[in-house]
Amino acid sequence: LEKATRQSVIWLSFQECTGCTESLTRSFSPSLEDLIFDFISLDYHHTLQAVSGEAAEAARHAAMKTHAGKYIVVVDGSVPLGEGGIYSVIAGMTNAAMLAETVEHAAAVIAVGTCAAYGGLPEARPNPTGAVPIAQLVKGKPVVNIPGCPPMPQAMAGTLTHFLSFGKLPELDALGRPKAFFGETIHDRCYRRPYYNRGQFAKGFDDEGARRGWCLYELGCKGPVTYNACASLKWNGGTSFPIQSGHGCIGCSEPRFWDRGGIYQPL
Ligand code: SF4
Ligand code: F3S
Repeated sequence: LEKATRQSVIWLSFQECTGCTESLTRSFSPSLEDLIFDFISLDYHHTLQAVSGEAAEAARHAAMKTHAGKYIVVVDGSVPLGEGGIYSVIAGMTNAAMLAETVEHAAAVIAVGTCAAYGGLPEARPNPTGAVPIAQLVKGKPVVNIPGCPPMPQAMAGTLTHFLSFGKLPELDALGRPKAFFGETIHDRCYRRPYYNRGQFAKGFDDEGARRGWCLYELGCKGPVTYNACASLKWNGGTSFPIQSGHGCIGCSEPRFWDRGGIYQPL
């Protein structure tokens, strides 16, 4: 046991907003501290690693060499292919080149956040950088998608700990998402569902229906077509989720949510 090594994880950040990392830091079961000090060796991560510059790139290469065939690559952000990929460059490498180099000897790839999973906001019309999702570029390796803007910390940490516990990835749906977290819609588990079933809908964010906690469907809630675990696991340690704070689900974990009609447009 003394010689046991922690699972090496290389985290690549491309066209992203760091919201996925912000979300991971809210993980509570396991906590981020438990995750990176006890369970995994986070060998490369722009925001959380101590080193920078050439030392950071050296750490990435060392992890790839030492743990070849065993390390996991987590990616947040989309990859720009426009103009030869120059819209996002790290250590002199385009994101596409760094992704190809890093995944070559990886055991699996986990695309976290809607940008990595589906292209996300960078890919929104007119997609000026030619952004593409990770699975479009990774061939011959299993790719798990954990969408969400940001993704739920339980889904990210839970997928990693599943791999640590069982040595394989969890069961996925047709869009590459872990069924354990994306098997049901927000609507399936929403506590406002009884109001939906009775046809009691808020017509404005400050009307009597809204004050009574009625269903937000007519205010544009996308819960019926959005697969995610927010309504059951909730955010910030199980405190709340968008609908509980009075705003409809905007479908942030679904492909092209930004381009699928207005946020306040009913389905
Ligand atoms: Fe469904 Fe949204 Fe209404 Fe909840 S608030 S019951 S998710 S439509
Ligand atoms: Fe996103 Fe809807 Fe959850 S907007 S955070 S999937 S409730």
